[in-house]
Amino acid sequence: MIKTSSYLPGGLLLLLHLLLVDAAIDRQTIVRSFNPCRTASSNSTPLQVGNGNFAFGADITGLQTFLPYNILSTWGWHNSSLPTTPEQTSPADFTGLDWWTHGRIVNYDQPNPAENDISNWMIGNPQRMNLGRIGLSFGDHDVSESNLSSKIQHLDLYTGTIVSKFTYNGSKVEVQTFADPDSTTVAIEVNSALISTGQLGVFFDYPYMTYTNKFEAPFVGVFNATTNHTTSLQQNGRQAQIQHDLDSTSYLTTISWDLNATISGPIPSTHRYTLQPLAESSNTLSLTASYHFNPSPDAIPYYSPQGQGTQINTNIASIRDASSAWWEAFWNTGAFVSISRNSSGNATELQRRIILSQYLLAVNEAGFDPPQESGLANNGWYGKFHAEMFLWHLGHWARWGKWSLLSRAIPGVYSRFLPSSIQRAELQGYAGARWGKESDPTGRSAPGEINSLLIWQQPHPMVFAEYEYRAFPSASTLQKWDAILSEAADFMVSYAFWNDSTGVYDLGPPMYPVSENTDPNATRNPTFELAYWRLGLSIASDWQRRQEKQVPAQWTHVAENLAPLPVQNDSYVIYEGIDGMWNNETYDEDHPSMLGVYGWLPPTAGLNLTVMQNTRDLVYETWNFTYSYGWDFPFLAMNAARLGDADQATKFLLDDNFQFDDAGYPIGGSRVPTPYFPGSASLLWAVAMLAGGWDGAEGSHWPRGWQVEVEGFAPAL
Ligand SMILES: *[C@@H]1O[C@H](CO)[C@@H](O)[C@H](O)[C@H]1NC(C)=O
Ligand SMILES: *[C@@H]1O[C@H](CO)[C@@H](O)[C@H](O)[C@H]1NC(C)=O
Ligand SMILES: *[C@@H]1O[C@H](CO)[C@@H](O)[C@H](O)[C@H]1NC(C)=O
Ligand SMILES: *[C@@H]1O[C@H](CO)[C@@H](O)[C@H](O)[C@H]1NC(C)=O
Ligand SMILES: *[C@@H]1O[C@H](CO)[C@@H](O)[C@H](O)[C@H]1NC(C)=O
Ligand SMILES: *[C@@H]1O[C@H](CO)[C@@H](O)[C@H](O)[C@H]1NC(C)=O
Ligand SMILES: *[C@@H]1O[C@H](CO)[C@@H](O)[C@H](O)[C@H]1NC(C)=O
Ligand SMILES: *[C@@H]1O[C@H](CO)[C@@H](O)[C@H](O)[C@H]1NC(C)=O
Ligand SMILES: *[C@@H]1O[C@H](CO)[C@@H](O)[C@H](O)[C@H]1NC(C)=O
Ligand SMILES: *[C@@H]1O[C@H](CO)[C@@H](O)[C@H](O)[C@H]1NC(C)=O
Ligand SMILES: *[C@@H]1O[C@H](CO)[C@@H](O)[C@H](O)[C@H]1NC(C)=O
Ligand SMILES: *[C@@H]1O[C@H](CO)[C@@H](O)[C@H](O)[C@H]1NC(C)=O
Repeated sequence: MIKTSSYLPGGLLLLLHLLLVDAAIDRQTIVRSFNPCRTASSNSTPLQVGNGNFAFGADITGLQTFLPYNILSTWGWHNSSLPTTPEQTSPADFTGLDWWTHGRIVNYDQPNPAENDISNWMIGNPQRMNLGRIGLSFGDHDVSESNLSSKIQHLDLYTGTIVSKFTYNGSKVEVQTFADPDSTTVAIEVNSALISTGQLGVFFDYPYMTYTNKFEAPFVGVFNATTNHTTSLQQNGRQAQIQHDLDSTSYLTTISWDLNATISGPIPSTHRYTLQPLAESSNTLSLTASYHFNPSPDAIPYYSPQGQGTQINTNIASIRDASSAWWEAFWNTGAFVSISRNSSGNATELQRRIILSQYLLAVNEAGFDPPQESGLANNGWYGKFHAEMFLWHLGHWARWGKWSLLSRAIPGVYSRFLPSSIQRAELQGYAGARWGKESDPTGRSAPGEINSLLIWQQPHPMVFAEYEYRAFPSASTLQKWDAILSEAADFMVSYAFWNDSTGVYDLGPPMYPVSENTDPNATRNPTFELAYWRLGLSIASDWQRRQEKQVPAQWTHVAENLAPLPVQNDSYVIYEGIDGMWNNETYDEDHPSMLGVYGWLPPTAGLNLTVMQNTRDLVYETWNFTYSYGWDFPFLAMNAARLGDADQATKFLLDDNFQFDDAGYPIGGSRVPTPYFPGSASLLWAVAMLAGGWDGAEGSHWPRGWQVEVEGFAPAL
């Protein structure tokens, strides 16, 4: 018999209270009402299971039987062999380009036409590796998706399980697919009479990796370059290990199953292995496949701060329980929004986007490194991740109170990249730490003109830190971020150039602004970056004061004397002195960054609301929204919300040019492949603003007539 104590400590009472508050919305019912359901494979997106550090993409069979959707991870990367071109055989031979920068020569990591081969190698390497492919094997029969009937597939968002059912040659088949929250393991259960008759098995295959294509979507790797890499098999009872060696990369798959079965292969001229149950009485085949580092001392050491890629899990029952428990905890932690279906015909669609975005971001964008634009679904930019996008991809975890997911990457990635960022700044003659842009896990930024000249990634750590401090105002939070913020601020101060003739500090040239569409040698004092510099320096200064340290005088001098936001004809423009801002189609498309200084960012000193409203009006009149994509619409929504137009804010979140497919993947469009996850992440950020308001306007900001219940949102900055 359970005895309840009459005395509960205060902390526990508080906890119970929080749990009760959390229980107010029936989260499980809302979440499950959006479980994706398919009757055929999509040719652009899989259904996925995963854990933020790895994801497995499935076709209609719940595996990768007909379509080779990918198995990507945070830890699995591959280097192609280095060029053999004389004097271009190592990254040390790369010298970049020198550009004039305020009267002096500064070296930038830009592709040098005299060093094409090593430049291209450094852009394309390392690539994020597709770890393999797992599918159903129908013996010698040539089976395609059209041979299956009664196909139906559900993804249960509440347990992280895909259940796929179909009929083949008169027999029913059911496949369950789920992932271990703590390792790179996919667990599979196949139920069918075809198992007991030995007519159905499971295959494992391995692609080669190249850097031929910047985007590899929807499929990653090359399955027909079989002579360029090797695989080998070792079996031990009901367990096998396949070793995959490609160039100097080596990793293993540990496969474990529960029936008498043979594993054999590779089939000649392939790297395909088949696990074939022997004819026996059971209709159920359960198996696990763990992808992991090769522990051999000869294998290249990979980077894996939290041990991902090292564990093996062969216990399918424990994985099933762990997956359910993990997802239940995920949905019941942090903030939640319940939009009544009565609100309007579009409210349900917004709720669908919110739920599916949360699931997909947890699967694809919650690893120990920040994610690439397409998460773990497919590869863009060779699988590398973009520092100016860290806040977009990951900031919503802070806004929704999912701190344990955010803390996997943040601030660890900044601490890890601090030494190389200090070195980058130093080589260019600046103080502090200059964050790179297009990064691999070592922190090396890929050569690129835009990559080397973008600056809006610099203040991101200040924003992460400030949200963390608001949630956890402790000495340990201050300590954790102190060096990162100080070094980032030192660079920002040192980068600002004192302009003798105007008596203010300038940003650039050369530089690229957020929209990446201006002449870098002419770009000076862009609106967004000026405001963001002010915000970042103000947070960095507060950080010093909170620790009772002196704010460096130079920080204050720069912050107080930065150039004013550039205004032409009473509206903000991309940068100071731009010619033809509103009648040159080069400028009136792409990210409308000026609107971000009163929306995504809180207003900083000198912001003029009349000028902001004029700018908003001009953007609405002239902008080519057909060309807009990804985070543009939530960015516009946040500006509309701050300007008091909640109707317009929700309209942007449901704009015709901002689409999510049946399983919630944000459509890339003509400019980037699908999925483009900044669309999902920024949607959640904008929703958090509508749900929790912002400093000075706390609370709900939904349109009139919408019935919305929210839990757990703190106001935005
Ligand atoms: C790829 O090569 C670079 C440069 O030699 C090295 O720093 C990096 O660790 C390598 N990465 C992998 C995954 O082999
Ligand atoms: C910018 O100026 C540098 C010289 O400092 C020149 O090499 C480069 O080509 C210019 N870039 C553009 C885009 O005009
Ligand atoms: C698959 O369907 C095709 C077209 O209907 C048919 O020709 C083929 O025999 C079927 N294959 C199997 C293995 O049933
Ligand atoms: C389909 O099932 C029948 C009867 O069970 C069997 O004789 C036949 O070989 C099967 N065909 C295939 C393509 O597996
Ligand atoms: C491999 O497949 C690709 C894409 O289908 C094709 O372009 C290429 O020629 C094939 N290569 C070989 C060696 O078969
Ligand atoms: C495989 O290796 C051969 C020989 O080195 C090379 O010519 C070919 O380009 C490689 N294939 C791929 C896909 O990298
Ligand atoms: C299956 O394996 C067990 C031992 O694990 C053995 O006793 C049995 O004979 C095997 N059955 C078949 C059909 O091979
Ligand atoms: C929602 O609408 C239905 C019918 O249109 C109505 O019966 C119900 O009371 C409404 N619910 C709320 C919460 O307004
Ligand atoms: C849904 O949103 C679209 C686009 O904003 C709008 O045209 C339509 O009227 C809305 N539908 C409803 C039922 O509100
Ligand atoms: C804001 O800008 C408007 C339009 O340029 C101007 O008339 C007004 O004086 C400005 N307000 C302040 C406080 O500077
Ligand atoms: C638009 O801006 C681009 C980039 O600065 C410039 O090359 C082009 O000449 C401008 N077009 C017009 C019509 O002014
Ligand atoms: C707007 O963008 C779309 C999509 O990129 C393009 O097709 C169209 O020509 C653009 N319209 C204008 C007026 O530039």
